Amino acid sequence: MMAHLTGGGAPGRGRRRRPDRSGQAAVSLLFLVFAAVLFFLPFARSADTPEWDKEDRTRNTGLGRDYSLVEDLVYTGEEFGAEFQQELTTLVETSSEEFFGFRSDWLRDTGILDVDRLPAGRRAFENECAGCHGRTGDGSGPAATDLDPRPRNFRSGVFKFTSTSTGQKPKRADLFKTITRGLAGSAMPDFRLLNEERRHDLVEYVRWLSMKGEFEHILVTIALDEEEIPDAEEYAELIVERWDPANLDSVFPGAPETERTPESIARGREIYFDATGANCVSCHGDTGKGDGPAVTGEQEIDGEVFEGIYDDWGYRMFPRDFSSGVFRAGEESKDLYVTIATGIGGTPMGSFEGVLSPEEIWDLIHFVESLGEGGGQ
Ligand code: HEC
Ligand code: HEC
Repeated sequence: MMAHLTGGGAPGRGRRRRPDRSGQAAVSLLFLVFAAVLFFLPFARSADTPEWDKEDRTRNTGLGRDYSLVEDLVYTGEEFGAEFQQELTTLVETSSEEFFGFRSDWLRDTGILDVDRLPAGRRAFENECAGCHGRTGDGSGPAATDLDPRPRNFRSGVFKFTSTSTGQKPKRADLFKTITRGLAGSAMPDFRLLNEERRHDLVEYVRWLSMKGEFEHILVTIALDEEEIPDAEEYAELIVERWDPANLDSVFPGAPETERTPESIARGREIYFDATGANCVSCHGDTGKGDGPAVTGEQEIDGEVFEGIYDDWGYRMFPRDFSSGVFRAGEESKDLYVTIATGIGGTPMGSFEGVLSPEEIWDLIHFVESLGEGGGQ
């Protein structure tokens, strides 16, 4: 499936070709070959691929890009002095190694990450995932540029498809499900052909990338906010604890699925259109096509006017078109239950747990499903 990322072996062919005549033609041929090699190099799939993460930083991927220290300092537009900057860089580098290095005893002792899976996870990630998600997991691999939605930036620590309460980290099972099934209607492929052990390695590696990314980011943020060098261990603990399976609640259907009757669909319809309540229609639109007034209209944020709605990474987004019958997190009723109850992290699709009763959520699901059968396709 990665064929489209590999550039079809062009770099190898290019390198072997040697111009045997002197003169201008040879020089320009050499130049062309060189340019072609440079162009295709990032797409080449091999263990010694050049460092994408370094290149990624020059690629403008909006808020989704990796936070290098320098950029963070630049973002603030403030001058902290070379000495402070150097101290901070050293702190991040050494403490990242100390707490999140593969050989970190500290990390192993937390028991929250299965560190023995990381080396295999890294190999699989660099082969199968880095082309889109970037080697550092910042979501800006070479193939990411034109994707919409963009590949997830794991370093921000925000995930969309979780079965846990709002704002909580995903469970291992959530990541396993995403990797196994892919995300319909996005570029995220399914990896059901990778053997199961490898998928578990990848789950662990994604968790690790995310913890490490958030850790580095929080150190820099705190340092800049407080203008002093933070206690790294305190923040390492804070980040890791959030991933502790013991701290993750499951949002299972609060009540078994109710019967799918015309009455249930009618009740669901009412909730969907209720402007003072759930107000699904404001985003998803009258016919469920995702063209509600919030999506087509303008809104003001900090005095600036924007059209439409945006995700946390700064990209404009559109709600799912229910008439297509394609649901990203799975199309079984219980998948929809989890989405509506917990929301979709990092997007304007909020959670309705506590706002709607479980029975009301089932009514809504029956209504949403009826939109798929009625229209589109
Ligand atoms: C062809 C590009 C591509 C490849 C290759 C790819 N992904 Fe993704 N991935 C995406 C996109 C795009 C999204 C975001 C979809 C969305 O926002 O709905 C995503 C999202 C994800 C998510 C986030 C789910 C969430 O809840 O937020 C995980 C986890 C993930 N990918 C893991 C992987 C792993 C592991 C691999 C390699 C085995 C991989 N991806 C390979 C494009 C890709
Ligand atoms: C503020 C805007 C907004 C409101 C209000 C809203 N949604 Fe959404 N919804 C979205 C967006 C945006 C997405 C797509 C998120 C994505 O692509 O990651 C979405 C996606 C969905 C999905 C698709 C999940 C999947 O797996 O593909 C369902 C189902 C859904 N919403 C149901 C509802 C219901 C039911 C309500 C009312 C109770 C509602 N939404 C209210 C914005 C909204």
